[in-house]
Amino acid sequence: MWRQRLLFLLAAALILLGCLGGGESIPADGTAAIPAETKYIALTFDDGPRQGTTDRLLDGLRERGACATFFLVGEQAQANPELARRMKAEGHQVGNHTWSHVRLEGASSAEIAEEVGKSEAFLKNLLEEGEYWLRPPYGLITPGTEQQITVPMVKWSVDPRDWESRDTAKVVQAVLKDAKPNSIILLHDIYPTSVDAALQIVDTLQAEGYWFVTVEELLRLNGVTPQAGTMYRTGAG
Ligand code: NI
Repeated sequence: MWRQRLLFLLAAALILLGCLGGGESIPADGTAAIPAETKYIALTFDDGPRQGTTDRLLDGLRERGACATFFLVGEQAQANPELARRMKAEGHQVGNHTWSHVRLEGASSAEIAEEVGKSEAFLKNLLEEGEYWLRPPYGLITPGTEQQITVPMVKWSVDPRDWESRDTAKVVQAVLKDAKPNSIILLHDIYPTSVDAALQIVDTLQAEGYWFVTVEELLRLNGVTPQAGTMYRTGAG
């Protein structure tokens, strides 16, 4: 029993390092140390960063020791570079949501390369070299073009359509109804209602024993080695 407790504390420390230590990822061999009863889940936020909402969300996540993944629109990151830097510094995963939020389904290879590449180059210059995983806008990309994507792609398994209702209570209810271990939850940090919902969701699920980790951490905790050009919908792969 004490051993299980020790392993739990070890896992918790790894997560905290990931969250507070500037995005350290969990070592591949850390998976074996994670007790089976611990529940992990990932919040993802698209379309930001935005002043007045993203900063409030980052405050709330920090207070709660929760990590998240942000898929940034390049134009928005250019307008709010300090928010993007803060995400990285506070251990969140930063990803790419194209330069100007274009639909990649139906787009040509050249358009995809331009929209993804411009944003990626900007993030590497602003933050650091490294991988900026892609969430294609609307979760879609022209079939057959996946092989030109040089990073893993992330979709979602829980979508409360927060952009449509803009209603905090409805968003919270929709997420809690569908959330389970290894879920990837889709929200947008450009709406005040979604920020309020996200923090309520963190409070509720943390009380149920969930740990909020980045998508990269979630996959590694499940022993999944992320592959370039592959679309991931849950932490289980
Ligand atoms: Ni979007």
